[in-house]
Amino acid sequence: MKVLAAASEIYPLVKTGGLADVVGALPGALQPRGVAIRTLVPAYPAVAKGLERGSIVHRYGNLFGGPATVIAGQAHGLDLLALDAPHLFKRPGNPYLGPDGKDWPDNAQRFAALALAAADVARGAIKNYAPDILHVHDWQAALAPAYLKFGRGGPKTVITIHNIAFQGQFPAALFASLKMPQAAFAIDGIEYYGNVGYLKGGLQCADAITTVSPTYAEEIRTPEFGMGLDGVLRARRDALSGIVNGIDTEVWNPATDPNIAAAYDTATLAKREVNKREIEKRFGLERDDGMLYCVVSRLTGQKGMDIFAGVLDRMVVSGARLALIGQGEAQIEKDILAAARRHKGRIGVVTAYDEALSHLLQAGADAILVPSRFEPCGLTQLYGLRYGCVPVVARTGGLADTIIDANEAALAAGVATGIQFTPVDATSLENAMARAMRLFADRNTWRNLQRRGMRTDVSWTRSAAAYAALYHKLHKAS
Ligand code: ADP
Ligand code: GLC
Repeated sequence: MKVLAAASEIYPLVKTGGLADVVGALPGALQPRGVAIRTLVPAYPAVAKGLERGSIVHRYGNLFGGPATVIAGQAHGLDLLALDAPHLFKRPGNPYLGPDGKDWPDNAQRFAALALAAADVARGAIKNYAPDILHVHDWQAALAPAYLKFGRGGPKTVITIHNIAFQGQFPAALFASLKMPQAAFAIDGIEYYGNVGYLKGGLQCADAITTVSPTYAEEIRTPEFGMGLDGVLRARRDALSGIVNGIDTEVWNPATDPNIAAAYDTATLAKREVNKREIEKRFGLERDDGMLYCVVSRLTGQKGMDIFAGVLDRMVVSGARLALIGQGEAQIEKDILAAARRHKGRIGVVTAYDEALSHLLQAGADAILVPSRFEPCGLTQLYGLRYGCVPVVARTGGLADTIIDANEAALAAGVATGIQFTPVDATSLENAMARAMRLFADRNTWRNLQRRGMRTDVSWTRSAAAYAALYHKLHKAS
C-alpha cells in the first residue's frame, strides 16, 4: 500500500507544534504494517538543507507566480518529496509568519501550491509512482482533495483535522487564481460563507475525514467546538472518525534520553531528582523538594494560558513552584513574565522554543499542567505519562481520551494516571491543583500514579493499525 501524505510541517525538519510530530511519526509507525508513506512538504530552507540524495522528479514552468520543482529525497529516514518553489518557500524562520509576526500575505498561494502539487503527484505526475491513497493534513494541504474532485479524479483521499481553529479562509476574489472549474465555488466545494475555505473544501471533498481523538471528533460536530464547520461535519458524520495520536517512544524514552541530566525508568524514579535539580538551575528556582509543576506550551487562549496566568499568585501561596517554557500571545507572555518577577525563585520562565529543555522538564517536574479550552489531541500529556510527570489536564478532546482521572473509584481500582478538571476556569483549575498537592503529599499514591502513567501504552501501535485499516477500506472501495 502506497500513501502520499502532504503537510506543511514535519519533525525533525520543521516544527511549530504537534502537527509536525505526527506527520513525522506516521511513516515509521505504518511501515511495519506494509504501508509506505511518502510525504510532500514545502522546501523551506530547513527542508532543503536536510534533504539527502535529492533529485528532481517533476517541474512546473509557473506555479503560482514562479517556476518550481518537486525534489525526491530522504531525511532522517523519511521518504520526502519537497516542493521547491523559491518564490513561495525560500524564506527564513516560521513557516507561516513573516518577521513582523503576521501571516505571510501570500499564504493562500503558498498552500494552494502545496495542495495542487499533492494532487498532481497523486494522479501520476511522477514517473513510476502511483499512490493508492492521498492523505492530507490540516488546511495547508486541504485543497488537494478538491483539486482531484473537480479535476480528473485520482486515488481515494483522507483529510486529518489537527486543529479546526485554523481553517485557511480567503476572499472570494482568490478563486480565479486557483485554476479550478467554476463548479468548485459552491456549497459542495470550497465556497464558505461567500469566501474561499481551504479546510472546508477538504472536508467536503475528501473520502474520509479523521481527527486526532474520538472525543474531538464528537466535539467538532457541535457549534461550541466546530468553529463554523460543525454543520459540514454533521452532514459528513459517516465519513468522520477519531484516531488518537501516539508518540515516538524512542525519541521520548526516559531510560535513554540524551537531553536529560539523569536517565531513569519505573524502578529508578528517585533519579528524577537529579533532573529536578537541573531544572532549578536552568530556570533560576530555589532548591526545594515540594511540588514542581511544568508547562510546555504555546501561550495562547486555546491552551488556557490566560486563565493559568491568573492563578499563579495563589499557586505560589500553596507552596508549589513552576517551570514554564513557551511563547505566544504578547499579553499572556507579559502576564506570566510579570508573575515570574513577583515570585523570583518560585516561578521560572523561558520564552523560547527549545526541544531539549522540554525533555528535561518532563523528566524532572512532578506534574505537567495542560488547562486547554479545547485540545484536538495534545502530545505533552502523553510525554508526561511516559516520563512520570503526572498530567493535570482539562477534560476536553484528546486530554479526556488519554488521561484517567484520579477519582476515588479509579484510585481504588488502581487505574488512575492523572487529574482532570472541568469546566476550564480558574476555580476548577485551582481545585485540580489542590487535588494534585494532596495526592503528591502521599508519596505512595503519587509514585503509583507515576508508574501507571509510565506503563501506559502511548506508542503508535494501536493508532497505526487504525490508519492502516482506514487506508485499506478506502482502497478496497475504489
Ligand atoms: P499544539 O500542536 O496544539 O501546540 P501539542 O501538544 O499537540 O499542541 O504539541 C505541541 C508540541 O510542541 C509538543 O511536542 C511540545 O513538546 C512542543 N512544544 C510546545 N512549546 C514548546 C517550546 N516552547 N519548546 C519546545 N517544545 C515545545
Ligand atoms: C494540533 C492540536 C493538538 C494535536 C496536534 C497534533 O496542533 O492543537 O491538540 O495534538 O495538532 O495532532
